[in-house]
Amino acid sequence: MFLWGAATSAYQIEGAAENDWTDWERHGRLKERHVRCGAASGHRSRWRSDLALLPSIGANAYRYSVEWSRIEPGRGVFDVRELEREVERISILRGLAVEPVVTLHHYTHPLWFWKEGGWENRESVGWFAELAAELARALPSVRYWVTLNEPIVFVLGGYLGGMIPPGMRRFSSAASALENLLRSHVAASHAIHERIPNARVGIAHNMLDFAPDRPHSSLDRRLVTAAEDLYNVSLVEATATGAMRWAFPGEGTAAFKLPDLPRATDYFGLNYYSRAHLRFRGLPGRIGEFFYRDSEGRGLTDTGWEIHPRGFHRVLDVAARAGLPILVTENGIATRDDRLRRSFLREHIAILGHQRDAGLPIEGYFYWSLIDNFEWLEGFRPRFGLFDVDYATFARRRRPSADLFAALGRRFTERGRSEASAEDDRSSAASRT
Ligand code: FCB
Repeated sequence: MFLWGAATSAYQIEGAAENDWTDWERHGRLKERHVRCGAASGHRSRWRSDLALLPSIGANAYRYSVEWSRIEPGRGVFDVRELEREVERISILRGLAVEPVVTLHHYTHPLWFWKEGGWENRESVGWFAELAAELARALPSVRYWVTLNEPIVFVLGGYLGGMIPPGMRRFSSAASALENLLRSHVAASHAIHERIPNARVGIAHNMLDFAPDRPHSSLDRRLVTAAEDLYNVSLVEATATGAMRWAFPGEGTAAFKLPDLPRATDYFGLNYYSRAHLRFRGLPGRIGEFFYRDSEGRGLTDTGWEIHPRGFHRVLDVAARAGLPILVTENGIATRDDRLRRSFLREHIAILGHQRDAGLPIEGYFYWSLIDNFEWLEGFRPRFGLFDVDYATFARRRRPSADLFAALGRRFTERGRSEASAEDDRSSAASRT
């Protein structure tokens, strides 16, 4: 079955947690210092009716995350009521014929996790595996799991750029955090498979297209190659081979082996949004600059990102080098202009179809996001949702792009169904003979 649906993350639509992001906000660390996530999109109280929106967009799958700080508020202490809530969520989704795709780590952490040293502490691998084991025990019918959302973005932003918790700027810390994150994926995958043998476990990897700011500059072009390796390719190759080489020009190189990574990964998750333009500077601590630009006249999104569907085509090719089935775990646009969202959807989904017809093993697509939500760096201004959220009342309003999304999905889900029924016919014919 081709998975067709939308994606969300717990903190971004539920808020109402006591985690490292609430702390970060309290310390005025967001771009707009006064912004607080609060109850986010009010999903914590409206979750049942929000889940009921899924069939109306033609979704047969839904990617969401669990809030670690609520599930495990103290180290090794699991909250039974929260786990029951997760069980209920699965039964609601099953009742709607929507396949759950559960993300364990989507940027937020319980406070105890940092007190114990965070991802630089090698023990984090065991803690994360315990979280995975507990959830797999509670949710034995869940087949699809995303262990980590965008580990490279998280490490670049949190350990090198100081932009998100834990707000550090040290390459050696970034490298050891990345190593432990990937080991955690492997350990979590083992823990899940032990309890759910047919589980499919993967990582959601953010990929960007890259372009030299000055196409004739060999320095800009070299920067593009370095960024491509660091940001896109390193994880693809590590997934294929078990060897990670992560080099940040001017900062350092990390190389480590994860022999079990290929076997611990059942699909390759890809998040794609945009293209970045790179200009070489060569200054200490600032090798180059990174910006978005409207180079094709399609406009910039409300997060200032270039709309660049061709890049989606290219990164799908790169993702395929992992040698695994591909799930597009996120793709979307922040805009108040829903016509722009519709053209974004048409163009990106056309590419999805081309690439699938060309033989890429694409098995799912999730639009980011089901409803408007709290964006990590920008707060509530960007509007990614197929449903608008009125933040004063938490009322939801369907955008026309939700209809288009449902219509575009039929091509994938119906073909999937007819293939599946052809398969059934073949197997029942075989069993008759
Ligand atoms: C992705 C994140 C997701 C959301 C979108 C816009 O990088 O995974 O949580 O913020 O960007």
